[in-house]
Amino acid sequence: MSLEIENLHVRVEGGDEILHGVDLRVEKGQTHALMGPNGSGKSTLANTIMGNPNYELTEGSIVLNGEDLTEADPDERARAGIFMAFQYPATIPGVSVANFMRLAVNAGREEPIRVKEFGALLRKNMEMLKIDPQFTKRYLNEGFSGGEKKRAEILQLAMLRPEIAVLDETDSGLDIDALRIVSDGVNELRGPDLGALIITHYTRILRYVRPEFVHIMLDGRIVREGGAELADQLEAEGYEGVRAEVAASAG
Ligand SMILES: Nc1ncnc2c1ncn2[C@@H]1O[C@H](COP(=O)(O)OP(=O)(O)OP(=O)(O)O)[C@@H](O)[C@H]1O
Ligand SMILES: [Mg+2]
Repeated sequence: MSLEIENLHVRVEGGDEILHGVDLRVEKGQTHALMGPNGSGKSTLANTIMGNPNYELTEGSIVLNGEDLTEADPDERARAGIFMAFQYPATIPGVSVANFMRLAVNAGREEPIRVKEFGALLRKNMEMLKIDPQFTKRYLNEGFSGGEKKRAEILQLAMLRPEIAVLDETDSGLDIDALRIVSDGVNELRGPDLGALIITHYTRILRYVRPEFVHIMLDGRIVREGGAELADQLEAEGYEGVRAEVAASAG
């Protein structure tokens, strides 16, 4: 059970190549961190994994549990078990958090979930994530703080229980509370059934969520891989240290 990305070359429609051959394998039960400086291609990889049509894959493959999703549309990928945070970042006026969660759950099912069953599932997950029940009555993302958006995102993750979750923590304005919400949520949901790929350019979040695997991306390539100690090294040396090392080893 795994997400296998092989030799991914990606460009923006009509633009230059951004990813120059990325290999990455995330197995169920593992937590990975993808790190890299601004503009290194992390979000491009996340968008490509989800099948965002603005990103053109010119070479390589994306396979989930043996099923080739390279050409699949985003819906198909979601149904196959890939979850992407901020898939629906927009405010949806008139749609409460609870209703949105029901739509999201039903999108992955043949038969709509029964009202009672949905209510029980929502309550269970809110309890686990320590979310105030009042929260689900609000309209999705309307006037939400950064922390509340994160709460909705993690609740969605808990409700959908995907096999692979990609969390692109692009928000540089993420305060410590929001960071805690994401980390606590991920730690709560970690286990043999979830493979997580946490994308960030800060090492901060990794103090709360210790990944088993760390990948460092520079200029559209993964240049270093290791365990959690790699994140510590990064915190000490910064990306410039890695960049210098890579340049030196390239001769
Ligand atoms: N839709 C797009 N149109 C044009 N250029 C793009 C597009 N998306 C990404 N790029 C370019 O690709 C490169 C990688 O961007 P990307 O957003 O993947 O970086 P990132 O690693 O996620 O950065 P950050 O840490 O700031 O989120 C950048 O030079 C960016 O300008
Ligand atoms: Mg990004």
